[in-house]
Amino acid sequence: MTVTVASAVPRLLLVAASAPRQDRRARLSLEIADLIERLGGAFLKAGQLLATRVDLVGAELAGALGRLHDKVKPMSAEQARLTVSAAFETVPVGIEVALRTPPVASGSIACVYRARYDGTDVAVKARRPDVARRFAADIAIVGFLARMAARLPMLRRVPLVEIVHQVGMSLAAQMDFPREVEHLRRLRDALADFPDIVVPAVLEELSSDGVISMEYIPGLDRSAADGLPAETKEAGVSCLVRAVYHMLFVQGFIHVDLHQGNVYLRADGTVVILDAGFMFQLSETARTRFTEFFAGMIRGDGEFCADILLSTVRRIEKSADVSVFKRDVADLVVRSTGAVAKDFELAAFSVELFDLQRRNRLFAEPEFVFPLLCLLSLEGAVRRLHPLMNFQLEAAPHVMHGLLLTDAIVT
Ligand SMILES: Nc1ncnc2c1ncn2[C@@H]1O[C@H](COP(=O)(O)OP(=O)(O)O)[C@@H](O)[C@H]1O
Ligand SMILES: [Mg+2]
Repeated sequence: MTVTVASAVPRLLLVAASAPRQDRRARLSLEIADLIERLGGAFLKAGQLLATRVDLVGAELAGALGRLHDKVKPMSAEQARLTVSAAFETVPVGIEVALRTPPVASGSIACVYRARYDGTDVAVKARRPDVARRFAADIAIVGFLARMAARLPMLRRVPLVEIVHQVGMSLAAQMDFPREVEHLRRLRDALADFPDIVVPAVLEELSSDGVISMEYIPGLDRSAADGLPAETKEAGVSCLVRAVYHMLFVQGFIHVDLHQGNVYLRADGTVVILDAGFMFQLSETARTRFTEFFAGMIRGDGEFCADILLSTVRRIEKSADVSVFKRDVADLVVRSTGAVAKDFELAAFSVELFDLQRRNRLFAEPEFVFPLLCLLSLEGAVRRLHPLMNFQLEAAPHVMHGLLLTDAIVT
């Protein structure tokens, strides 16, 4: 990694110094995307998340990072062959044939091939070699940096080390393909009542550790969504948002990786959700508290939100002034309630919430990073494709449903 970064820095500086002003940003963006691709592993994940936020990183960088969703350099045919040979005692003929042609797409963890089986098209997701070791090494590096950063006074009460640890564990769990199969099945079942959402069905008999075979979804095009008519985009995004809210507030089972390589809006108004590799099950308490907090946001009830937040904090320092904290949270919530997507910035809102906890000497609950990561990419899609959506109000029926599942409502 050090070598990759060290060799990239002079190139970046050269481009910054020599490229004509008008295409400097575009050239730098391409260089950064290349660097992230070469770093691979956990860095690819970070690049994919950034690419969902054209509003934050700008069109050039988001565009250049876009290919990291499904056009990462694929593994070689030989590597793919080794992966499937290790997965099956006898490699099914259809899979063997499929590996002779290049993959249809390649993500950070796997390459996906198109195979024929029993007269139908099948997507065969084969895990890249060595990916577990690379992720483990990256997570160790990021963990070390987090421990260093956590010593800075400004980060002292942010649960940075725990957050990095929890996210790292979930990232590492992506290598566990039998687990991903189970999660994909669960996601499909949970969204079965959403007629416009498509989650591919798994083919158990062609899946194993290192290989997942599933229904092939034709015509997936990451950049097609932007060109759809406005009403199709808006219907698609609304449908996606409702599905995500259902998963968040009712199931507490979160797809943390909703970037453009895993979510596709189609011309017929349906939305395809793929890749159950990076999912997180909230504890029942966290699901309830998160849902209650959202209910408070929708009502504009800042004090209620402050109470919920207080009930989730890990620890309160003796010198903490809880009343100041409650006043500040209430103020923030009231300022943010009722805003449509283009006027609400979840990233800034969350940073301010974390900062309020830190300044008021409270230790925040790290588990909430997962719904936040999920909402951050969702918000990127909403702002891009349906900026006038009332992101908060749209949540109301799902929040209500989520609240009815529990009798532990804090008053
Ligand atoms: N069932 C499928 N049908 C068609 N294409 C698929 C299917 N599943 C995945 N793909 C394509 O393969 C890409 C990589 O698959 P994905 O499961 O996202 O792998 P990774 O975990 O590496 O991100 C996706 O971005 C998508 O373009
Ligand atoms: Mg993916």
